[in-house]
Amino acid sequence: MATATKPVSQARTSRTVTVQVRVKRFQPDSGKGAYWQEFTVEADPLDRFVDVLNRIKWTQDGTLTYRRSCLHGVCGSDAMRLNGRNRLACKQLVADLGTKITAEPMLGFPVVRDLVVDMDPFFSKYEKIKPFLINDEPVPSSERLQSPEQHARFEEGTKCILCGCCTGSCPSVWANREWVGPASIVNAHRFIFDSRDRAAQDRLQILSDRTGVWRCRTIFNCSEVCPRGIPVTQLIEEVKRALVQDGPDVG
Ligand code: SF4
Ligand code: F3S
Ligand code: FES
Repeated sequence: MATATKPVSQARTSRTVTVQVRVKRFQPDSGKGAYWQEFTVEADPLDRFVDVLNRIKWTQDGTLTYRRSCLHGVCGSDAMRLNGRNRLACKQLVADLGTKITAEPMLGFPVVRDLVVDMDPFFSKYEKIKPFLINDEPVPSSERLQSPEQHARFEEGTKCILCGCCTGSCPSVWANREWVGPASIVNAHRFIFDSRDRAAQDRLQILSDRTGVWRCRTIFNCSEVCPRGIPVTQLIEEVKRALVQDGPDVG
């Protein structure tokens, strides 16, 4: 059942707009299950959605729960579903979301409280693909050099901030929570195609089983929502191709 609260009064400017925010709430200790709550907030069009959430929390309902940390699109902690699409609350302006905004936790993740989801299964899958450089050759006397072309081969994956927007947008993830998901494959790609790494075959082996890359149905939601502009689907296709060719060409 939806409940409404009074508008917050604050200094208005000629730009101030009144925003209706509909939030999907879940407070496990209340025994109520999930429900929708509406808030009315005054905002500047250049406010970010996280500013709107802060205003609600600080002036209307201190129990509203959401994650945020860096507030600059770097930590990936405030991913949520806004107007039906996964986004970072700190990167979305009110001007882009409009004056009627719906906020929900990301789909495909267990909900802990309000807009906070349990990221543990996500990070377990991430750990599964060994997201670190593996090279047991003797340590060289200077850096392990790489050409610009070798670096470009895996550069896109280095931009990932592990926000989960891609994974929470993927119908294959919704259908099968065991599936490793797009974010893990992006991070596997980052090491599989790194010319300094020596564990590409191990990672390809991990991604070749029934929870690996083949569950990707090339739906592209992941690429559309990635706040870092990573061509997620393309990277997944490159990993699939490396598997078919029985090993990646790392140059
Ligand atoms: Fe987030 Fe993009 Fe990384 Fe997916 S690939 S976790 S959407 S930064
Ligand atoms: Fe899902 Fe992206 Fe593949 S949305 S099915 S991971 S292309
Ligand atoms: Fe860090 Fe939004 S708070 S990415």
